[in-house]
Amino acid sequence: MLLINIRQLLQIRESKLEKALAGKNLAELPILESAWLKIKKDRIHSFGLMADLKTVDDEEIIDVKNRIVMPSFVDSHTHLVFAGSREEEFVMRLHGKSYEEIAEAGGGILNSAKKLQSKTEEELFETAKKRLHEVISMGTGAIEIKSGYGLTVEAEIKMLRVIQKLKAYSPIPIKASFLGAHFYPKEYKQNHEGYISLIIDEMLPIISKENLADYIDAFCEKVAFSAEETDRIIKAGIKHGLKAKIHTNQFNCMGGIEVSVANNAISVDHLEVINQDEIDCLKNSNTIATLLPSAPFFLNDPYQPAREIIDAGIPVALASDYNPGSTPSGRMSFVLSLACIKLKMTPEEAINAATINGAFALEMQDEMGSITVGKKANLIISKEIDSYGFIPYSFGSDQIEEIIINGKRM
Ligand code: NIG
Ligand code: FE
Repeated sequence: MLLINIRQLLQIRESKLEKALAGKNLAELPILESAWLKIKKDRIHSFGLMADLKTVDDEEIIDVKNRIVMPSFVDSHTHLVFAGSREEEFVMRLHGKSYEEIAEAGGGILNSAKKLQSKTEEELFETAKKRLHEVISMGTGAIEIKSGYGLTVEAEIKMLRVIQKLKAYSPIPIKASFLGAHFYPKEYKQNHEGYISLIIDEMLPIISKENLADYIDAFCEKVAFSAEETDRIIKAGIKHGLKAKIHTNQFNCMGGIEVSVANNAISVDHLEVINQDEIDCLKNSNTIATLLPSAPFFLNDPYQPAREIIDAGIPVALASDYNPGSTPSGRMSFVLSLACIKLKMTPEEAINAATINGAFALEMQDEMGSITVGKKANLIISKEIDSYGFIPYSFGSDQIEEIIINGKRM
């Protein structure tokens, strides 16, 4: 397949990158104006300038008529498998209750867990499948999905099995994270040891034996797990071959970043609040800062101080956090708009953070996230727009004309 007359081909990288983009490199988005791109099977075969194109007769030629082509988004943080919506809590917050108050009172994650526990694997698979197709149509070409709404041995394993089935079914690559440490179930509120022991001694061995997860996650916050508890859980996950991707600093600075970095986490996710010591700690690490601006948008919280994080030279990824409690949306183009409008990132930084750096945050950087020969042909073809800045500018809409997944038009 040969795409011709591409107005702007975004995110072209001649070779695979060694490291996630940071500092000034994050601000540079390499593009080709007036380009072509050739796909063979499911891979990017070659690309170049229209002026240099020699056509071959037997190719399927698609004239994209001056539209923009870019790699699909890599959404490196979602909770796509869940059992129902939580608009009643949304209304409670409109009446003045905070996310943390609702969680403390047994709503929030426990509410989602109760709903999920009563669903079958098949029911969860069917609803997750719909959401997966929805996010693919909105430009996501690779995704991470977490457990964490089970909170019993049985229900956490059920969730991870659903994700495993999605992996087999999905046209886009999926990575799975085990988030048993999302919240203490009611019966363990006064018995943290009891629940931690369920995670470490019962859930993790099954997960490891059945190869049900790629990453270990925990929610390190006052309402959930302490830094010390998070540390123990990450270490146990690492023993079972999982790397860490950690929820931290959504509401509290309480040591989550330090613990994550000490355990060589791939990413620390959220970071609505972060102090100078934590910025310094991240600066001297290989850990990516994954910012999820849709969560503070929906919860009306302060946004991530992206400028300080980026200007310190820390690599930043952007992800949706799609979940029923804090972000009932997997629309990555809206994440880009928020990143520009609220986090003061430039369109170049936002696109880099949502593509190649997202790929690094899922260790998929050799397969996804850029227009590079040999990488998977998961692409977005835009509507008729003049330049890529229009993508974050036109907030709320996707500007997507067509999606290509595995080299095929969807
Ligand atoms: O990433 N913060 C923790 N987990 C999710 C929200 C969970 C929920 O409220 O259901 C998040 O925002
Ligand atoms: Fe999350």
